[in-house]
Amino acid sequence: MKESHRREAIRQTLTLEQFIIDRQEDLPPSTGAFSRLIRDLSVAAKKVNSHMRRAGIVDVFGTTGDVNVQGEVQQKMDLLAHQEFVQALKRGGECCLIGSEEHAEAIPLRNEVGADGKYIVLMDPLDGSSNIEVNVSVGTIFSIYRLPDDHEEPSLKAALQPGVNQVGAGYVVYGSSTMLVYTSGFGVNGFTLDPAIGEFILSHPNIRTPENGRMYSVNEGNYNSFETGLKHYIKWMQKDDPESNRPYSTRYIGSFVADFHRNLMKGGLYIYPATEANPNGKLRLMYEANPLGFIVEQAGGAASHGSGRIMEVQPEALHERTPVFMGSPAMVDLAERFLRGEMTVND
Ligand code: AHG
Ligand code: MN
Ligand code: MN
Repeated sequence: MKESHRREAIRQTLTLEQFIIDRQEDLPPSTGAFSRLIRDLSVAAKKVNSHMRRAGIVDVFGTTGDVNVQGEVQQKMDLLAHQEFVQALKRGGECCLIGSEEHAEAIPLRNEVGADGKYIVLMDPLDGSSNIEVNVSVGTIFSIYRLPDDHEEPSLKAALQPGVNQVGAGYVVYGSSTMLVYTSGFGVNGFTLDPAIGEFILSHPNIRTPENGRMYSVNEGNYNSFETGLKHYIKWMQKDDPESNRPYSTRYIGSFVADFHRNLMKGGLYIYPATEANPNGKLRLMYEANPLGFIVEQAGGAASHGSGRIMEVQPEALHERTPVFMGSPAMVDLAERFLRGEMTVND
């Protein structure tokens, strides 16, 4: 994206809502339901943002004393974010089913709103939540599907669609500023929250990720339990070779959204592989890997589980996990080649 385009977009103060309406008019016949859904999600994001900005002053830090369905300690902000998004989607009436990291079962909404919402939303309401207490960026991730025509009643089965069926996906990063980045399959656009007017403003039109990068993001504390091909790739990235800009740099925050966002903008590779403790990796297919996979592909990047495209996996459970290798396409391609044993550290 050219810096001049970015500055021009900001000068025009195009709000997220106006942007979606403009796009919708380009794609008839549109009922406006998708636009309203994105608006509902953005309202929840603003509310979560407002809680977050006061964290440390009001009592939103710490754990609820419970563990979630994954057996992870639930933070108060996890629950608060979950409730804000569920409430916004219930009120909005465009969503018929929610799947959330913070809720064991899929949540059908149709009876509650008495409406005929057509969209399924799968979400990680707060990603990287163990980082909040220490003032590190966290995020929200969402993935949007249509209720298939042959499923009149929204159920988990209707939600178990491969990522290629997504009609929209996005994330919010609550960082030094708050940004919402989303795709509906026509490129990726980023909006920054202007706190003065409480609106998301188009600040990063048509985001493209660099073809190659020189940053990799992985929890290297788990190195000993990585498979051999990955160990070779990491050692290869660390090798001294000025011609190919090596050694690369490591950047790992431990908030997927924040690591992903940096790599998307600057080029890089995010890795959460299979480990001894997590043989299928740690990240969740449906509401972490698929939505960010959709976004990175739409920005010209790639998302692999190590031997194929993440978005082609047929999910079997709401909370299933997948290994993740995503980011600049040249780096993802190399990861797959190392994992197949076609390359070694000596290449
Ligand atoms: P969540 O806070 O939604 O449970 O996600 C935490 C995830 C992700 O944000 C991050 O990339 C990863 O956990 C970090 O895991 P490690 O601490 O194992 O590196
Ligand atoms: Mn997460
Ligand atoms: Mn989470």
